[in-house]
Amino acid sequence: MADLFLIVGLPGAGKTTLARELAEVHGAVRFSPDEWMGPLFGDAEADGKRDVVEGRLVWTATEVLRAGGSVILDFGFWGRDERAGLCWLAASLGADVHTVYLPIDRATQVERVTGRWRDTPEQTWPISQADLDEWDGMFQEPDDAELAGRYNPTPPQGFADWGEWMADRWPTSRTSL
Ligand SMILES: Nc1ncnc2c1ncn2[C@@H]1O[C@H](COP(=O)(O)OP(=O)(O)O)[C@@H](O)[C@H]1O
Ligand SMILES: [Mg+2]
Repeated sequence: MADLFLIVGLPGAGKTTLARELAEVHGAVRFSPDEWMGPLFGDAEADGKRDVVEGRLVWTATEVLRAGGSVILDFGFWGRDERAGLCWLAASLGADVHTVYLPIDRATQVERVTGRWRDTPEQTWPISQADLDEWDGMFQEPDDAELAGRYNPTPPQGFADWGEWMADRWPTSRTSL
């Protein structure tokens, strides 16, 4: 059965490093949005284009899963709803979903993002203390039920199902536009 890995965590947590390892071990296709944003736009966000790129990567992931391949989405997935939407997508395709969370304490995080900017600036962007504070406030940590795959919430108000929610969060993930 095809596997979908969701890599969850803040910048510097080690997501891309682990995603590379998982890709080797499982023979899975890895999608790391930073590797697309840099070459395409030279910027991590590019005025909302990250969502456009992520959506198209979700679309591509859908194609791979449909073909029986396994996929690693190295998106960070800070939002609980994002993870729930991807779990719904995996289930609808008959794929097994694995939520992999990499917690990180602030001291280690600072050490790693600083080291990465120093050693491999072409793979990253400068990150300030204020950025880290803001992102901490935005991140919704997965709980045990979620990590055990026992998380099947109802979609947020205004959405009939998770498919509708996904089309709203990532419009470019839709197969036909
Ligand atoms: N388990 C680890 N122990 C020590 N350093 C690590 C570990 N995982 C990643 N790193 C280093 O920390 C930095 C951030 O890792 P990275 O995988 O790019 O994080 P993320 O993708 O979550 O932002 C990189 O320089 C990487 O080499
Ligand atoms: Mg990364």
